[in-house]
Amino acid sequence: MNDDVHALVLAAGEGSRMKSDVPKVCHRCFGEPMLVHGMRALERAGVDRIHVVVGEGKEDVRPLLPPLVDSVEQEEPLGTADAVREGLEGGAVPGEALLLVTCGDIPGVRPETYRDVLEHYADSSADLLVLTARVDDPADYGRVVTGEDGRVRRIVEAADASEQQRAIRRINAGILCGRARTFREGLPRLEPDNEAGEYYLTDLVEIVNEDGGRVGSFDVEDAWEVTGINTRRQLVEFEREGYRKRNRTLLEQGVTIRDPDRVKLGPWVDCERDVEIEGDVTVLGESAIGAGSRLEGPSRLRNVEVGRECEIVQSQLRESRLGNHVRVGPFAHVRPDTQVEDDVRLGNFVEIKNASVGEGTNIAHLSYIGDARIGRNVNVGAGTITCNYDGYDKHVTQIDDDTFVGSNTAFVAPVTIGEGALIGAGSTITRDVPPHSLALTRADQEIREEWVRDVWEPMKSRTSP
Ligand code: UD1
Ligand code: MG
Repeated sequence: MNDDVHALVLAAGEGSRMKSDVPKVCHRCFGEPMLVHGMRALERAGVDRIHVVVGEGKEDVRPLLPPLVDSVEQEEPLGTADAVREGLEGGAVPGEALLLVTCGDIPGVRPETYRDVLEHYADSSADLLVLTARVDDPADYGRVVTGEDGRVRRIVEAADASEQQRAIRRINAGILCGRARTFREGLPRLEPDNEAGEYYLTDLVEIVNEDGGRVGSFDVEDAWEVTGINTRRQLVEFEREGYRKRNRTLLEQGVTIRDPDRVKLGPWVDCERDVEIEGDVTVLGESAIGAGSRLEGPSRLRNVEVGRECEIVQSQLRESRLGNHVRVGPFAHVRPDTQVEDDVRLGNFVEIKNASVGEGTNIAHLSYIGDARIGRNVNVGAGTITCNYDGYDKHVTQIDDDTFVGSNTAFVAPVTIGEGALIGAGSTITRDVPPHSLALTRADQEIREEWVRDVWEPMKSRTSP
């Protein structure tokens, strides 16, 4: 496709059917705001520019937009056609550009489907292309009215439809494609003469037809994908069905999901072959699980890349990357910006954040590791704590390769431990340790022989009644 492709996402509606103080497109679906899925799908479909029409709750919506996406304001929610008109007003979209108009409340659309729409448009001689779907229950969707030649004549909103039209099971998915100028020239001619008193984008179909243009259409294969979310019930039902579908697909692709009703894998999660999932496991965001890895619940991962043949048991992980053969948990908490190389173990009650851990290192029990650079083959003893915060700033602990850290060590950062050093158990390390040295801050052990008999036991008899 040589054309400059722009996408315009409508996200300025009131979302009144959600009965919420939160803008509809900010409601979470698969663990992330609805609008985020649309942005991601359009980016992955390869559109050149994305513009989002914002309105109600714009201060909550704008922070969700990726850096290169711009927002245009619709002053009043006068309808989808008005939203597009305002979206095109600033001149950011050249008239000859190909424009893909979509809604912020259809979070299930896959990048492939957006690509299909663009390809269908390019292959047809249509002036406007409408994505449609066949459904059992057309509910509140716009009905697609076709002529005898099978061409789309118009789209009638449910509220304005006659009884006969309401029975039509082919619906408007909410995605249109055409030259920007087709929208720019047609939209000002629409009137809000309908039940809602709104400017309907769907009326553009009639305008194009009247002008002797061609309106093309095609059905999306799986209507679930274009589910429009207008109510909370639609949101949770759509989401539940989405998780079900994902599990079915993954089972077919060689992933074992022992009890699918307890497993939630978001639409952007990749699982390679022979991954095994058991118990209550949720994996969301842009995550990937490498071949042969095993996840046991309750576990929750979000934006995490897991290598091959890892084992994650009863743990929480976020915004992190694990190499191959890494073992995590039970009860580990891997917080953002953690990078772990191959063959690492993060054992029970280990909390780790903003840290890198080299190959073969063990942090096996009861530790807090924050803002740390830990090398290869380090043994971090039970109860090791990085004291990374001085009440004002965070500081780094660096532990070089082949170091042995005795149990119950506190590293008061900033501090660097040289390669091959040994830290005696129970030490509080406040100064750098040179390579291959022993550092020990423990007080000498004192022995008072017979003290128990001579001092303590007599005290006991004195206090008893
Ligand atoms: C719309 C379509 C309907 C289609 C359905 C698919 C129209 C008139 N109707 O209905 O044919 O079957 O989507 O899901 O287009 N928005 C604005 N500004 C406004 C009004 C809406 O930006 O003034 C945005 C909303 O935030 C939403 C999108 O446009 O993201 C669609 O609006 P919504 O009110 O949800 O339309 P539907 O009733 O779902
Ligand atoms: Mg809608």
